[in-house]
Amino acid sequence: MAINSTGLQPGQGADEGANRSHPSLSADVVDALSSTFLRCVECSTLYPAIESGRAPRYRCDCGGVLDVETEFRLPQQYRQTTKKIDPLQYSFEAEADSGMPSAGAAWRQIFDERASNPPIWPISMDRLLLDQSGVWRYRELILSAPERFVVSRPEGNTGLYPVGIENCGAGRIGHRQIGIYAGLERFFLKHEGENPSGSFKDRGMTVGVTMANLLGASAVACASTGNTSASLASYAAQAGMKGIVFLPAGNVAGGKLAQSLAYGAETIQIEGDFDDAMHLVEQVCNELGIYLLNSLNPFRIEGQKAIGFEILQQLDWHAPDWLILPAGNLGNTSAIGKAFRQAYNLSLISHMPRIASIQAAGANPFYRSFMQGFATRESMHAETVATAIKIGNPVSYTRARRVIEESDGIVEEVTDEEILAAKMVIDRAGIGCEPASAATLAGVRKLVARGIVKRDEQVVGILTGNLLKDSKTGIPQTLNGAVVKATIEAVKGVLNG
Ligand code: F0G
Repeated sequence: MAINSTGLQPGQGADEGANRSHPSLSADVVDALSSTFLRCVECSTLYPAIESGRAPRYRCDCGGVLDVETEFRLPQQYRQTTKKIDPLQYSFEAEADSGMPSAGAAWRQIFDERASNPPIWPISMDRLLLDQSGVWRYRELILSAPERFVVSRPEGNTGLYPVGIENCGAGRIGHRQIGIYAGLERFFLKHEGENPSGSFKDRGMTVGVTMANLLGASAVACASTGNTSASLASYAAQAGMKGIVFLPAGNVAGGKLAQSLAYGAETIQIEGDFDDAMHLVEQVCNELGIYLLNSLNPFRIEGQKAIGFEILQQLDWHAPDWLILPAGNLGNTSAIGKAFRQAYNLSLISHMPRIASIQAAGANPFYRSFMQGFATRESMHAETVATAIKIGNPVSYTRARRVIEESDGIVEEVTDEEILAAKMVIDRAGIGCEPASAATLAGVRKLVARGIVKRDEQVVGILTGNLLKDSKTGIPQTLNGAVVKATIEAVKGVLNG
């Protein structure tokens, strides 16, 4: 059977539960997606999430990228007992005074109850498994999907490390070095490298592969600088789908390449950079009917929003002043900004954090656009040691631009030297991260020095990938060759030496 976007031949699969307008999909899938729409971020055209007789849509007819739009509905039992509050009027104090809890309070209660379930469950109970996921715990705000279709490891629940000068306990003098380096009193690092495949990509991927599963896809593909491919390979293997990944030859860190191969994905290295691979994969997916799982796919963005929700929950729903993250293809900037906007509109939080996207100086098209007040959309040939963000023509430019504008945010650039220096500080504190992630610390240090981020503001920085992803860049390789005799004298010689 040829690889096909639905995995079904025409006419196949019209079982009893099937829906007339979408014969290959079961009725509960059609029903679940019936109030989910895709809106073009350029021209605002609205499309249904699934269009009868048409392959999945990743772009508007005008070429613009799409954004998922859906109405969030509180579970039935909360609807009568809460009231909607205008976000502009909202504060925790006003809510306490008003007697009747806001819808935001109900959402907080739902998510907190789910998070407090012990991590023990009979594996057949899909719902409890979903509650354990740091993505599906927020499912009403992520994707409406019948539970049996969800493909989850589960992911998320990553550490939020207090590393500021003031908020770092006395037992963690090592971690405090990070706060000193940044110049921040109340600083947290959210380590997304603690996800199952070692990067933040798992959050978008669980939702993307679930969507593929809902559509009955048999094959999924992406272009990648390495982390998306590792994540796709893992989730495709779990779902029993064929995973196909397009990588820029010679530009993917060893650990990431090893993951794709180990998880059994078809791994295609192309002559060219990430931007060439991205262009190619979109063409291949459209022509061969393979389900595309780059963050061009708006459902990936929906999953990545959960980083934002989880940070807010870990801070007991008190929004930080700033959120700092590395930026490449701009999916993550778009997703976290969207999460904060939605959390604010639902009265989950009382103000929007400002967002700072940090680019490598050799891969800085978004920074260049920002510096011109977004008058033009820049693209370039990218070069940086941080291969994960070596991207010259980011797909989610328009989505991310909106986030920076709406959140009164900023885009900053940092040199490779600054990235490697910051990585060493994070590594030596015992936390560790891959090079691209260290752009967060390098960037915030610069923003503090420039007086844009204030020393006493509360700041959350995201570490996007695990130290083990790239064991070569910015890690001392001096042990090679330094073998000593197995004697106490030899060891004393080294330690005293
Ligand atoms: N940090 C890491 C470790 C990444 O792998 C990426 C993106 C980013 C930051 C930037 O995030 O693209 O959403 O702005 N990696 C993609 C990949 C491109 O293929 O793994 P973004």
